[in-house]
Amino acid sequence: PAPRRWALRGDLLDFTAAPAWGEVASAAVRFDRDHWLLIEDGRIVGRQAHEPDASWVRKDHAGQLVLPGFIDTHVHCPQLEVIGSYGTELLDWLERYTFPSECAFADPARSRAGAEVFLDALLASGTTAAVVFATVHKVSAEALFQGAMARGMRLITGKVLMDRHAPDGLRDDVTRAERDCVDLIQRFHCQGRLSYAVTVRFAPTSTPEQLAMAGALCRADASLYMQTHVAENRAEVEWVARLFPEARSYLDVYERVGLVHERAVLAHGIWLDAQDKVLIAERGAQVAHCPSSNLFLGSGLFDWSAAPFNVSLASDVGGGTSLSLPRNMGDAYKVQALRGQRLTAWTALHAATRGAAEALQLGHEIGGLSAGQAADLCVWDWAQGPVAAARDAAARELHERVFAWMTLADERNLAACYVAGRQRV
Ligand code: GUN
Ligand code: ZN
Repeated sequence: PAPRRWALRGDLLDFTAAPAWGEVASAAVRFDRDHWLLIEDGRIVGRQAHEPDASWVRKDHAGQLVLPGFIDTHVHCPQLEVIGSYGTELLDWLERYTFPSECAFADPARSRAGAEVFLDALLASGTTAAVVFATVHKVSAEALFQGAMARGMRLITGKVLMDRHAPDGLRDDVTRAERDCVDLIQRFHCQGRLSYAVTVRFAPTSTPEQLAMAGALCRADASLYMQTHVAENRAEVEWVARLFPEARSYLDVYERVGLVHERAVLAHGIWLDAQDKVLIAERGAQVAHCPSSNLFLGSGLFDWSAAPFNVSLASDVGGGTSLSLPRNMGDAYKVQALRGQRLTAWTALHAATRGAAEALQLGHEIGGLSAGQAADLCVWDWAQGPVAAARDAAARELHERVFAWMTLADERNLAACYVAGRQRV
């Protein structure tokens, strides 16, 4: 069992606000080198420079980096097995690899085993909270909720809604889907650290009737999240235009039924137009930027610097090639470089911690190292291996050091991971 009162020593880094785009010296960064973070009953209760008295169990991580646990705002549990699949863009990739792999989750044992492996892999990557796609099968969402509950993790998920343009074994229908959603919401939504997300796979795999049902669920309970994909790939955008000729845009398909709201997490958003972007901002929704996936599937280069809405960072595994959010930060920098923009370590880290938490309306609970927040914490080695160690030693100022860390780090840098004060890695 975890000690009731304990203290963690290390280099503490989090944010007090959103850092400005491109600003390397940012007042939004709170860095307390060699400080102690105090934890009581799974929550952070304070921080101090001096060693706490003997009533606190002490864990000494001097010389290591302490960050809030990362928040992956878009990732697919059933796609671990198709990570790194060769040779396709989105629509072919779904047909050839993803849909066949997801079919297996009809089996409850497979769903449970998949959820266990997936959640442990998140924690081993330093991700303590996530917004997750299950499969169309009710049991796959159940398994994720139960696995997250057992680990004390903050998890947002839901059964995937898809009633057309998918193979046998991977389609639901409106009546059955609604019944499954209502049952899962009753059993898991707002239980402990779990929340339900109405999960529309994407516009092409739902009939207009199913989209209307999803919108009605959201309207009936404003505490529900919504997650889906939007404007990821050009062929996908053209397909949606053919399927929904009455809609002004891809995003408008969702807007018309009430799915674009302040708890909506829209993955990708590469091919949104100006009007769509303003609407997302007005509705208070967020875009989950998935740089590794966008590069791997050749989807396009997300325009982050001009985004008027909240942007969080996500792995989108199995389209993405790593659950590690530092790896995804490195990819995000490269995506912006290809656009002629420069992503600071601060904007990247903020999008994976405080920024994501606030966009999810969970800023009181996760995303920072402030008193009152859950002790979801990760301890990182500043460097792994001689190349990274030499780079780290050469860094002259904080941004340079953190940027090199974000560029070179992955799950091998993770020294420890705590969820609600309990050590899980
Ligand atoms: N669009 C619809 N389904 C998916 C999926 O599973 N992954 C990605 N990246 N995009 C999608
Ligand atoms: Zn996805």
